[in-house]
Amino acid sequence: MAQVMRDAPARRIILGITGGIAAYKAAELTRLLIKQGTHVQVAMTEAACHFITPTTMQALSGHPVLTNLWINSQGMNNQGNSNDDGMAHIHASRATDAIVVAPASADFIARLAHGLADDLLSTLCLARNCPLIVAPAMNRQMWENAATQRNIQQLIADGVILLGPDSGSQACGEEGMGRMQEAAQLARDIQAFFQPRLLAGTHVLLTAGPTYEAIDAVRGITNRSSGKMGYAVAQAALELGARVTLISGPTALSAPHCPLVGQGAKLIQVTSAADMLQAVQQQVADADIFIGVAAVADYRAAQTSAQKIKKGATKLSLDLLPNPDILGYVASLPKPPFCVGFAAESHDLIKHAHEKRLTKNIPLIAANLAQHAVGADDNELILIDHAGEHVLPRADKLTLARDLLKHIVALRHSLSHKGTMKHPIKVRA
Ligand code: CTP
Repeated sequence: MAQVMRDAPARRIILGITGGIAAYKAAELTRLLIKQGTHVQVAMTEAACHFITPTTMQALSGHPVLTNLWINSQGMNNQGNSNDDGMAHIHASRATDAIVVAPASADFIARLAHGLADDLLSTLCLARNCPLIVAPAMNRQMWENAATQRNIQQLIADGVILLGPDSGSQACGEEGMGRMQEAAQLARDIQAFFQPRLLAGTHVLLTAGPTYEAIDAVRGITNRSSGKMGYAVAQAALELGARVTLISGPTALSAPHCPLVGQGAKLIQVTSAADMLQAVQQQVADADIFIGVAAVADYRAAQTSAQKIKKGATKLSLDLLPNPDILGYVASLPKPPFCVGFAAESHDLIKHAHEKRLTKNIPLIAANLAQHAVGADDNELILIDHAGEHVLPRADKLTLARDLLKHIVALRHSLSHKGTMKHPIKVRA
């Protein structure tokens, strides 16, 4: 079984830290970015060094921290490099894929908005030829102040990308807008920013979550699907630049959103398999890719009661009717989108998944063990297509979703070059 290698392009960012209590979050952000395979060069303002030390950031990033624009009296810069040509601000920003300023204080935002370059970090930002991402952090009244809002509007007009701020309790004890986003959220958004826009101009339609088949006013048939995998696939599709329509059964998750790519998924919430089929029928006409991630209930009650069924003395029998197969319906359309299914099995995973791919007549199925996948945050997938089996090693669901979509892009491309696209794809031997 072929193991799919995860490509981890070595992205380089400059992480700028300015003076604010949220500077402590920059330590965790550095750790997470490095874990993702990003090369992090930290640059700190003098004020930032009052909140967190360059020694901490050097230890976490593995590189000396840039703090000083000027060569010192011994002719050495702050990295002890005597060959410095005084152009660190130019060299550092040329060799980077993005500058991320987190936290960005109200003062630093004002300096950015006015193009000031009076210390190393502001000079790096002004001299850059790469995107600038800014995560504001300040007291709520500083954030709401007309001057800050004016500066923020100027940054947006200048093409600077803003992440946050969030609302919540603040270090000063007040409550409101101005908290820096959490490190995990920032790391996720920065990683999304670096994804190649492989699905630009593509409409991806997905189903996710369980369905709920009512029996009476309070009871029903459902399953333990959390929707996490389907929502992760929707999120990853947004990151790759797709237009995404997500048809979801009942879950506790919020609509996928990708601020750095600038769009969210269209979320259509449904309850039963019949509702899900109807929503798919309404959305499928212009879909390029359909991915059935939902754990659709296979049966529904033949009769439902609008009132709660009272407990009787004798046993209760339920008549069940089969639900429509939504993926099967889409795959059998005269001009189907590129269809991908999921196979959740408790045993004989590969055998059942191969059979499902053939029965549903789809080019690709992602197989996983239900007992490992349902409700979990990470998983392992085996992708099965005409070429055989490809293992996506255990990882969090968003990482798996990104890998799955890259496989879909490559497979769709190779099949379209064989002239099989825009027609039912024959997968039977
Ligand atoms: N699926 C669907 N509509 C259904 C049942 C399943 O669209 N009524 C889709 C799922 O979203 C998934 C694939 O079909 O992409 C396989 O689902 P799964 O539950 O693993 O298999 P079933 O087809 O339901 O077969 P079985 O329950 O016998 O394993």
